[in-house]
Amino acid sequence: MITTLVYSAVGLLFLAFIADILAGLKDDHREPRRLQPRVPVVGHILGLFQHGPTYYKMTSARAGAEIYALGVLNFKVYISASSRLLPHIQKQSKALSFRPFLQLTARQYGEAGPDTYEIFGGDLPDNLSQSVKSSLAPGPHLDELSLRMGERVLVDVEGLLKSGRARTHVRLLDWARHAVVQATSCAVYGKEHPFRDPEVEKAYWGWIPYLTSHLVGWLDVTGRGYALRRRVFDAHIAYCQDLPADASHLMREHQRTLTEAGVPAVDRAKQAAIFTIASFSNSAPTLYWTLWELFSRPDVLARVRGEIEAHALVVAPADSGSDSVDKSGKETAYVLDAAALKSRCPVLLSVLQETQRTRHVNPSFRRVMADTLLDGRYLLRKGAYLQVPGNVIHGEPGLWGDGAAEFDPYRFVPDKQRPDAPTSGFVPWGAAPYLCPARQFAATEILIVAALLAVRFDMRPASGRWDKAPALSIADLATLSPPKHDVEMEISVREAWAGAWSLKMGESKSRISLASG
Ligand code: HEM
Ligand SMILES: *[C@@H]1O[C@H](CO)[C@@H](O)[C@H](O)[C@H]1NC(C)=O
Repeated sequence: MITTLVYSAVGLLFLAFIADILAGLKDDHREPRRLQPRVPVVGHILGLFQHGPTYYKMTSARAGAEIYALGVLNFKVYISASSRLLPHIQKQSKALSFRPFLQLTARQYGEAGPDTYEIFGGDLPDNLSQSVKSSLAPGPHLDELSLRMGERVLVDVEGLLKSGRARTHVRLLDWARHAVVQATSCAVYGKEHPFRDPEVEKAYWGWIPYLTSHLVGWLDVTGRGYALRRRVFDAHIAYCQDLPADASHLMREHQRTLTEAGVPAVDRAKQAAIFTIASFSNSAPTLYWTLWELFSRPDVLARVRGEIEAHALVVAPADSGSDSVDKSGKETAYVLDAAALKSRCPVLLSVLQETQRTRHVNPSFRRVMADTLLDGRYLLRKGAYLQVPGNVIHGEPGLWGDGAAEFDPYRFVPDKQRPDAPTSGFVPWGAAPYLCPARQFAATEILIVAALLAVRFDMRPASGRWDKAPALSIADLATLSPPKHDVEMEISVREAWAGAWSLKMGESKSRISLASG
C-alpha cells in the first residue's frame, strides 16, 4: 500500500516535471527568461510559502536580470526587478492592469457569487476605482473623513493611560491595530460602525493571516479563516442594511456603484467588508513600524519633537477661553495643528517614508491583458501576471545610493546640500495610474498618531531591547509585514506636556508632499 502511494507520488511528480519542461518549451525567445526553481516544479510555490514576499528578493538576486519569469506549469509570473522598467509598465497600464485583481479578490476574499463575479469582469472595477478616488481626493469629502478620524485618534491616544496613570505597559502592534481600525472606521462608516464590537475587531485580525490561503481557495483546510471572516461579513451585512446618517461619501458611493452595477445586497455588504483589507491591513503595520523606527532613535525623536513643538502646536492657557480647554479648566490645553504637521514637519514625514521604503515587501500585482512588448523588447504573454517587488526596487543602489540598504531618517528631508531622494522608484503606494487613492488620508492618520505619541509620551520596549529584525507575519499580504510577535512597550507621560489635547484638522487642500506624488 505504502509503496503504491510512493510510486504514484513519484510518478505524478515526474509527469508534472515533464509538463513543466514542456510548458517552458512553449516560451517565446523574446519573453523574459524563466528562473528554474531549486526543487523541480513546486520550488517557487514552496519558496513563496516559506519566505512570503521576501522570496522575490532572493529570486531577483539569483536571476540577475531586470525582468524574469517564475513559472509553474502553465502559470507564469513575470517579475520586474528594476526601476528602469517602471515607466514602461506605467505606459502600458491598460494591457498590464490591476483591475483583474479586484475581480479575483471579489470572489476569493469577498465570496462573490457567480453573477457578481461576472459583473466584476466588466467595467465595475473601473467604476469602483473612480468612485473611491473621487471620495478620497483632497476636498470636502476627504476633510470630513479626516475630521472624524482625528477625533477618534484623540480618544485612543488618551486611552493609553487608563485612569490618569503616568506609566503603563501596552502591546504596540495590538494598540496600533486598534487605533487604526477605530479611527478609520469612524471616518468611513460613521460612529455606529461594525468594528465597535471588540469581537468583530478580533475576528478581523484573526482572518487576515488567512488571505494567502484564501487566494488559492482550498488551503484553509480547517475553515477557521472562513469562520472568522463570517463574523466580519455578518457585522457588515447588518450595518449595510440601513446606512446611518453619518456614513461617509466614500461608503455611500461605494455601495451606490455596486448597486447600479446590479450587485445584490449581501454581496455589496461583503465587498464593503473586504475594503478593510486595503485600508486597515496596510495602515496598521505602517503605523507600527513608523513608531518603532521613530522611538528607537532618541536623536531623531528629539528632532521630531522639536519641529512639532516649533511649528505644529498651539498652547492655550486654561483661562484663555479657547474651546479646546478641558472640562476641569485647570490644565494647559494643547492643540495639534494637522495642516502644519503635514507641511512643516519634514523629519517626521521623512521617517514615515523611509519606514515604507525600507520595510515594504509586497509587490504590486498586474495581469497581462494582451500580448505586450515591454520597452520594445520583452514579450509579455496574455494571461500571465506581472509583479513589481518594492523591496527589490527600494534596494537599488543606482537609485538610492550606496546606503540603499540602510535606514536614513533624513533621506526624504529636502536639503539643498544633496540631491533629492528619487521619486520614480518609491512604490509603497503603488505606481500611477494604480496609486493608492487613500494615501493622503492614510499618511495623515499615521502622522497624527505619531506626532501625538512623540510629544506626549516616552516609549521603550519593556525588555529594554529594540529588536530590529524580528520574525514577520508574511501571510498578511500587506505592503509591510507586521512582526509575528507583538512587543510590549513601557509608556510614560512627558510631564511637561500633560494636559488637555485637541486637534485642529484644517483642510485637505494642504496636501502632504509624498514622494510618490
Ligand atoms: C499606509 C497605508 C496604505 C498603503 C501603504 C496602501 C498601499 C496601496 C497600494 C500599493 C495600492 C495599489 C495596489 C497595487 O498597485 O497593486 C493600494 C490601492 C488601494 N488602496 Fe491603499 N494603502 C494604504 C491605505 C489605504 C486606506 C486607509 C484605504 C481606504 C480608506 C486604501 C484604499 C485603497 C483602495 C480602494 C485601493 C485600490 C485602488 C484602485 O482600485 O485602483 N488604502 N493601496
Ligand atoms: C460604469 O459607469 C458607466 C458610466 O457611468 C455606466 O454607463 C456603466 O453602466 C457602469 N458599469 C456598471 C457595471 O455599473
